[in-house]
Amino acid sequence: MKTRSLTVILIICFCLNIYSQQPVHKFQQTDLNLEDRIEDLLNRLSLDEKVKLCYGNVTDNTGERFSSGGIARLNIKQIEMLDGPVGVRNFNNQKTTALPSTLLLSCSWDINAARRYGEVIASEMLKLGKNVIFGPGMNMMRSPLGGRNFEYMGEDPFLTGFMAVNYIKGIQSVGVAACAKHYLANEIDNLRHYTSSNMDERTMREIYLLPFEMAIKEGKVWTIMTANSLFNGIHVSENKTVLQNILRDELNYDGVILTDWRAAYNTVNTAIAGTDMTTGFCAYVFGEDRLLNAVKSGEISEKLIDAKVRNILRLYIRTGVVNGDKRLSGSINTDEHKNEARKLATEGMVLLKNSGNILPINPEIVKNILVTGPGATVVPSGTGSSKVVSEISVSPLQGLKSEFKNCNINYVAYDSSKTDLLLSDARSSDVILFFALGSQSGESRDLKDIELPGNQATTINKLTDNNKKVVVITLSGSVVAMDSWSKNIGAILSCWYAGQATGEAIADVLSGKVNPGGKLSFTIAGKLNDYACHYLGLWPQKARTGNNVPVAPRAGADRKATYSYDCNYEEGVFMGYRWFEQKGIEPLFPFGFGLSYTSFSIGKSGIDIISDKSNNPKILVRAKISNTGKREGSEVIQLYIGEENSTVPRPLKELKGFQKVFLKAGETKEVAIPLDFRSFAFWSNEKSKWVANPGKYIIYAGNSSKNIAFKETVALK
Ligand code: BGC
Repeated sequence: MKTRSLTVILIICFCLNIYSQQPVHKFQQTDLNLEDRIEDLLNRLSLDEKVKLCYGNVTDNTGERFSSGGIARLNIKQIEMLDGPVGVRNFNNQKTTALPSTLLLSCSWDINAARRYGEVIASEMLKLGKNVIFGPGMNMMRSPLGGRNFEYMGEDPFLTGFMAVNYIKGIQSVGVAACAKHYLANEIDNLRHYTSSNMDERTMREIYLLPFEMAIKEGKVWTIMTANSLFNGIHVSENKTVLQNILRDELNYDGVILTDWRAAYNTVNTAIAGTDMTTGFCAYVFGEDRLLNAVKSGEISEKLIDAKVRNILRLYIRTGVVNGDKRLSGSINTDEHKNEARKLATEGMVLLKNSGNILPINPEIVKNILVTGPGATVVPSGTGSSKVVSEISVSPLQGLKSEFKNCNINYVAYDSSKTDLLLSDARSSDVILFFALGSQSGESRDLKDIELPGNQATTINKLTDNNKKVVVITLSGSVVAMDSWSKNIGAILSCWYAGQATGEAIADVLSGKVNPGGKLSFTIAGKLNDYACHYLGLWPQKARTGNNVPVAPRAGADRKATYSYDCNYEEGVFMGYRWFEQKGIEPLFPFGFGLSYTSFSIGKSGIDIISDKSNNPKILVRAKISNTGKREGSEVIQLYIGEENSTVPRPLKELKGFQKVFLKAGETKEVAIPLDFRSFAFWSNEKSKWVANPGKYIIYAGNSSKNIAFKETVALK
């Protein structure tokens, strides 16, 4: 009898268990259409529950601000977010992989590298049980002083957009959401909360909006973070023109618009502008019953809340939060991730100079290596919200010691006031490796200048006076000044912030195990004033009300939206290489430039004009790239376009296509790069639309913005 009732109980439990695992509600059924599932779920929610989805947690100051919402009644967990974009910034003791900076990634000009980068991040997010990573960073490197340049992808919007799209695809392919940030035009970081980025529509469309447009249209990004700054006088989170009108109505963006940590202020304005979720220190803007009360008082409609909640539920379903058990599994700090961190780091290092082929270092010939410079024993990275704590961290000196086991490595700690010993050692060394370290970049940490701190330039010059075989390896979050020493130097390898495997990756490149193939994603000028915003006195931002500038409190519910500074983008579309070419300013190293240990030639195969209609041009540029040297390597073919007689001032050349090609010694490959309407068009402020005039356009193909292998004029009707 006892056994029988036990059996019955067991059968009931078994059935209940099976039943509980079955999707009972429509919104749980993964085979149904996404929008139907969203509607089903939305209809089950009370106003209170809906509103609770629209803000982040405010419970403590560790990781918990990085979660939001959840619907306990329906067994739907909170959505969990973490910072990127240069790896996962985790809050508990679990360390993660510190990838090279995304600035370095952009110098790879390799969309597959961007995808692999995203995949590593996504895998670690899955393992940590997290859903949204705050990256990619997609603001422009308008000035080399931008403290967060290392988190962005250089000065060209098309290159940034293309790299970001693939980074996003890498992340989202496994059900983790990427977050394109900081929308829009948040180039300057100091005082960003009170600074308005002001520009005309054409500048916005052609430069600062473009990467976000690409992230939406091609990357299908699931979340976008609004900048802390203002755009044309209104905080972005409260700016209906750039949120509702552009992102939603025009670009049909169906993901979540969430705020940066201090980006929103006024509940009703923020809600009406199109922001879906307030987070971090401004979570209270939709929290603390403020959004709820605004609906109850009739200031905003429940329909508006529903629209936000639809976007948010779309994110919950896309990231598997609704059916938590259906998520893919990930892993953390695996050998695969470590190897990727190392490989990716080598892929974006840029060889700027290599006189007399000093590099790669041949241990058969080079016996005595002198290592010095403030960067030799550190693994630098940017500070602030993107800081990743990794399990391993290999300094250049450690990397060299394990690579060049048969050489005598003489390390002399850097002290600019005591160079006597260093110089006498320099005279007896076969090669000198000087690890130059730029000023610390970071969030809210725009740089004061681009000089190498601590008299490094003087020491480099003294070393060069004593031995011609000096290699300078730069480690920095942005451009460093090279003008005073680069002419006499033997070789320069720029390594940016290269992540946990800095030392290993540098050793790989210096030894020639890896042939460098990185190309600059920005211009390196002779002096700071050569850059447009410095030349024109537009950086930093200008105070609006004299010296006594009121600033808003940084946190707390009594914060007030404050508009205290103007950052005017008066150079318009003439930023980066567009400016240098327009003004005829010779850069030290141009946009798109980078050397290799082998040599290449680029030749024209043909230009196929499929359609020459100016309102719908379709052109295929075919080029042949040959590796004419003795080593395997990679080259990047870059297509630029300029209009001959434009009706508005246009840059002489603008990047419109590129492809990275890997070639064995002696190998030749053909590439075909398509050009379409947007490759030729500019934004007409007059007509409020993209326009490609009939007329002549020059297509330039080369391996930098300056080094053009061939050009061809095409006429559009
Ligand atoms: C930064 C964001 C970051 C957020 C959360 C903000 O201060 O601007 O980039 O995602 O903090 O840490």
